[in-house]
Parts: sequence; structure tokens; C-alpha cells
Amino acid sequence: MSGNDLGPALATDDDRVEPAAVDRQAGFDRLIAADERLEPRDWMPEGYRKTLIRQIAQHAHSEIIGMQPEGNWITRAPSLRRKAILMAKVQDEAGHGLYLYSAAETLGVDRADLLDLLHAGRQKYSSIFNYPTLTWADIGAIGWLVDGAAIVNQVPLCRCSYGPYARAMVRICKEESFHQRQGFEILHTLSHGTPEQHEMAQDAVDRWWWPSLMMFGPPDEASPHSAQSMAWGIKKHSNDELRQRFVDMTLPQAHVLGLTVPDQDLRYDEESGHWRFGPIDWAEFHAVLKGQGPCNAQRMEHRRRAHDEGAWVREAAVAYAEKQAQREASGAAA
Ligand code: 3HC
Repeated sequence: MSGNDLGPALATDDDRVEPAAVDRQAGFDRLIAADERLEPRDWMPEGYRKTLIRQIAQHAHSEIIGMQPEGNWITRAPSLRRKAILMAKVQDEAGHGLYLYSAAETLGVDRADLLDLLHAGRQKYSSIFNYPTLTWADIGAIGWLVDGAAIVNQVPLCRCSYGPYARAMVRICKEESFHQRQGFEILHTLSHGTPEQHEMAQDAVDRWWWPSLMMFGPPDEASPHSAQSMAWGIKKHSNDELRQRFVDMTLPQAHVLGLTVPDQDLRYDEESGHWRFGPIDWAEFHAVLKGQGPCNAQRMEHRRRAHDEGAWVREAAVAYAEKQAQREASGAAA
């Protein structure tokens, strides 16, 4: 429900413009305080709108760039069953990108412009997708750890204050939950297979563990957007809270898998009931954000090429839509 539709501003003279603006802000504040959803036609502060566009665009870009490390294994999946599952998963990620670009468009931006910004390096995508998938076990590790981290981060977004984003997240989270299980199942099979397969599973977890913790973003004290995004109900929890939740959720699963995580400082704190983990290498995180990760250049080069090579599909779709519209218009006139 939206309670923020306060009608047009009373712009007849300066004295009356100001109270209308105050009313609109008060309406927005009331809605946020009541934990209700804002809808596209509701008034919102410009900073709120820009923050949502930044986050949703980054999220959408992550989904479509995230197709690359896994798409890389479709032709090499070890069985037809594994291939079919992986194709469906990669296709799901494309779908997530589409829901999210659509959600961003409700804020008055065009997805073509967002893609241009991505291709120009002016909008980010998740750091995690700049790491290589070296073996089949990496597909398991991505499903278990990366999709697992995505679920922890994204389930609270189903309750975020902006309706179109929250609703997109409901479906995305259901699919992510399936993705996480398929990754767990791949790793479980490998971990309980031959010694070489077990070693391959352990090696993949060793390489993906720390980058997965970095996915949650910088520590709270170094996160410029968290406080305002939480006050606006966009983020429901801080980066560190969610990171801790992920570690607590994942370590018992590692036990079931028969795998370990590469952290010598890891210990269970009886008093708090949390797993305490060692220091994260934030220098590595910042280097990846600056484009210096192992696969940044490759991911962007591939994305730009795919976009250019897909131009004819977009042109054909526009031509088809125009033709349909013309047919409908001439049918209506007849
Ligand atoms: N990778 C790249 N950039 C990151 C990042 C990461 N892991 N974590 C933070 N950043 C960036 C922020 O975008 C921000 O950049 P900017 O100031 O240039 O815009 C800067 O680092 C500071 O970080 P903040 O913590 O202040 O930023 P936020 O408040 O936006 O929090 C976030 C970062 C937690 C990632 C938040 O934006 C969020 O929850 N986003 C939605 C989820 C999302 O985008 N997930 C990406 C992965 S999607 C995925 O995994 C697909 C699945 O199929 C596996």
C-alpha cells in the first residue's frame, strides 16, 4: 500500500510551494517509518531515487556478468544432467538481470543507458565475478558459496522499501535457493568421491571462500552508503551483520560436505554463538573494484562484444514491435 500520494504541489506562489514540499517529505518519512512500500508514482527524495538506481543497476549488471564464469562450463559439464541444470541456472541469472533492469526503469532510467554506463566502466558489478572458474568444482563452489551469500544478502531485500525492487527479489531469492542447493550437491558428490575429486572440491572452496565474504561489501565503518540506505529501508542489515550471518550459516554445511574453509583464525565463540573469522584482505577487494582482479578485463571485453554482436537482435525486436503496433492500429481503424 502506498500512503504517499499527496497530489500535485501547490505551486501558485512561493509561500505555498514550500509547505507542499514539506508535506511530501513528511509523507515519505511516514511511509518509511511505518515500513511500508513506495511505488513508482510516489514522491521520493532525489537521493533515495539515485541510491536505488545505483544499487539496482549494480545488482542487474552482476546478474548478467555472473553468467560468464558459469557459462564457461556449459560445454564441459561432466554429464547431460549436469549440463541441463547448469544451462537452466545460467538462464535464470539472465532472467534476474531482466527483472532488475525492469525495476530500475520504474525509477525513470532506461536500461540501454545503464548498460552503456556499465560498458564505459562507470557502474560497478559484483567483485565476485572477477575470479576464474578453473575446474568443475568451481561450479559447485559458486552455487554453494556465491549463491549462498547472495541469498543471505538478498532475502532482506524482499522487504526493502521500494516495491518493484522488493517484488523482483522474491522470485530471484526462490531461484537462488535452488542454485545454492545444486552447488552444494555438486560439492557433496565430489567431496565424497575419489581422493582427487575431494581435493578438487577443497581447492575450489579454498579459492572462493574469501571472495565470497567480500561480496557483502566493505566493513561497516568503511561503507559510505550503509547508514543512509538503512535509514531509508533499502538495506535492512549492515554489510558486517550479513557477512556474519553467512559465516554462521555456512560453516555447519561445510562440516556436512566434509570440507574446510581456509581460515586459521576461525573459532566458535560459545558466548555469542557466532563463528569468529580472521581478517579479510580488503586490499584485494579494492584492487578488484579498480579493475585489477584476475578476470576484470576478460569479463568486460566479453560483455561489450556480446552487446555489440546482439545489436541485430535488439533492432529486429524493435522492428517487430513497430510492425505489430502498426498492424494493431490499422486493425483498430478498420
Ligand atoms: N562488488 C563491487 N562493488 C561493491 C561490492 C562488491 N562486492 N560491495 C560494495 N561495493 C561498492 C558499492 O557499490 C559502493 O560503490 P559506489 O560508492 O561507487 O557506488 C562502494 O563499494 C561502497 O560500498 P557500500 O557498502 O557503501 O555500498 P552499498 O550500501 O551499496 O552496499 C551491497 C553494497 C551490499 C553490495 C549492496 O549494494 C547490495 O546489497 N546490493 C544488492 C545485491 C547485489 O548487488 N549483489 C551482487 C551480487 S548478485 C549475485 O551474486 C548474483 C547471483 O546470481 C549469484
